[in-house]
Amino acid sequence: MEERIKVPWVEKYRPSTIDDVIGNPDSKREFIAWLNKWLAGKTPEKKAVILHGPPGCGKTSLVHAATKQLGLELVEVNASDVRTSEALRRRVLRAAIEGTLSGARSKIILLDEVDGISPREDAGGLETITEIIRSSRHPVVLTANDPWHPSLRDLRNLCELIEFKKIGVREIVKVLSDICKREGVDCDPAVIKAIAENSEGDLRAAINDLQSIAAGRRAVTLGDLEILGYRAKQLNMFEVVRIVLTSKRIESAKAVLSMPSLDYEMLIQWLNENIPYQYSPSLLAIADAYEALSKADVILARIKREQAWTLLPYALDLITAGVAGARDKPPFKFVKYNFPYKLRALSYSREAREEKIRIARAIARACHTSVRIALIEVVPYIRLIYENNPERGSLILGTLGIPEDSFARAFGVTAVKTRETSSFTRARSRRA
Ligand SMILES: Nc1ncnc2c1ncn2[C@@H]1O[C@H](COP(=O)(O)OP(=O)(O)OP(=O)(O)O)[C@@H](O)[C@H]1O
Ligand SMILES: [Mg+2]
Repeated sequence: MEERIKVPWVEKYRPSTIDDVIGNPDSKREFIAWLNKWLAGKTPEKKAVILHGPPGCGKTSLVHAATKQLGLELVEVNASDVRTSEALRRRVLRAAIEGTLSGARSKIILLDEVDGISPREDAGGLETITEIIRSSRHPVVLTANDPWHPSLRDLRNLCELIEFKKIGVREIVKVLSDICKREGVDCDPAVIKAIAENSEGDLRAAINDLQSIAAGRRAVTLGDLEILGYRAKQLNMFEVVRIVLTSKRIESAKAVLSMPSLDYEMLIQWLNENIPYQYSPSLLAIADAYEALSKADVILARIKREQAWTLLPYALDLITAGVAGARDKPPFKFVKYNFPYKLRALSYSREAREEKIRIARAIARACHTSVRIALIEVVPYIRLIYENNPERGSLILGTLGIPEDSFARAFGVTAVKTRETSSFTRARSRRA
């Protein structure tokens, strides 16, 4: 299990300079100009900014890159992790008032994801942030996906708002191609384009998708994916599974239910397969997640038996919120998900069945019999001939228009071809 856990590419390829942060040039310029005012010793009109925009477009990355490039100290909290205003006060307020520790010329106070603070649960959290901004001697940067939430109204008035937009498909393609080059993966441009388009401007999601299918491989082609036969579904399922298993809030896990084409039976299989990888080493988390899945399974069986569709919401809640709400979940790590073993086995045996029928049909046509008779009475003879005299066997198969390898695969025949030509072909070549 250990080697499946890799360094997340989103961390490995996090931009380290301001220039590396792609897209949104105007927003970047505005942010840097505001920061430079601080560094020049002036206090800008607004002491704080809110960088806001969709997930995975580089808001947090820009702050990190700027800090590094300008040699500043960073005081960072993820606002939705620091649950109480007490903790916020302890960790940030002092730092905001005091000078730098390391002799860096200044520092940035970063309050990441402030829209994750719920005004009901974290009473006082937002007021504390207001207090931090008012008393800070350093630039305060807030990030949010949705700065228009009513609870943020007072904060908004204290901040300059800088908007970030989705990253364009072309730029995402460039980043992904670059990563492939650096990882030594030869990836079909069509695959990269598909991932980029599927990401909806979320570069983090795009990079995660790429890692899911390209990590540890030399080459990725559309053909590869199509042989697997579940390209489109698999890409989506990767994302859905990742959302359910790694979301910090149960509401975001439940959000997958709003997808128009979510196949929840499929999702159960995928979760069933991948829970241990994502939740190890926490046995408690694994147990909780499977407990939720098994309850969902019981309910679904009852739904089918009694047509009790009114129970469906309970099953869906268990599959999403129930699994995501497991106790003692380990912190996020990048895990390469597996296609469910059960489905793979099923689809394999279906393919094998279909191949047998295809062959029997060809025989039936040539021998004027039914497919059933072909299977029962003719195939065993061909098989016997093929095993004892591969050359003759392949001649017969050739006449019937059946590819040799397909016959061998379908009926588990292993013919060791001898170098020596059979008497049959020798006789033929003499005649020729
Ligand atoms: N503009 C970008 N330039 C380069 N890499 C990016 C950019 N945006 C995102 N990434 C990649 O995606 C990862 C996540 O980006 P980041 O944390 O900056 O997103 P965010 O905008 O803060 O999203 P969220 O709203 O979910 O916090 C980064 O580590 C980086 O690998
Ligand atoms: Mg962020």
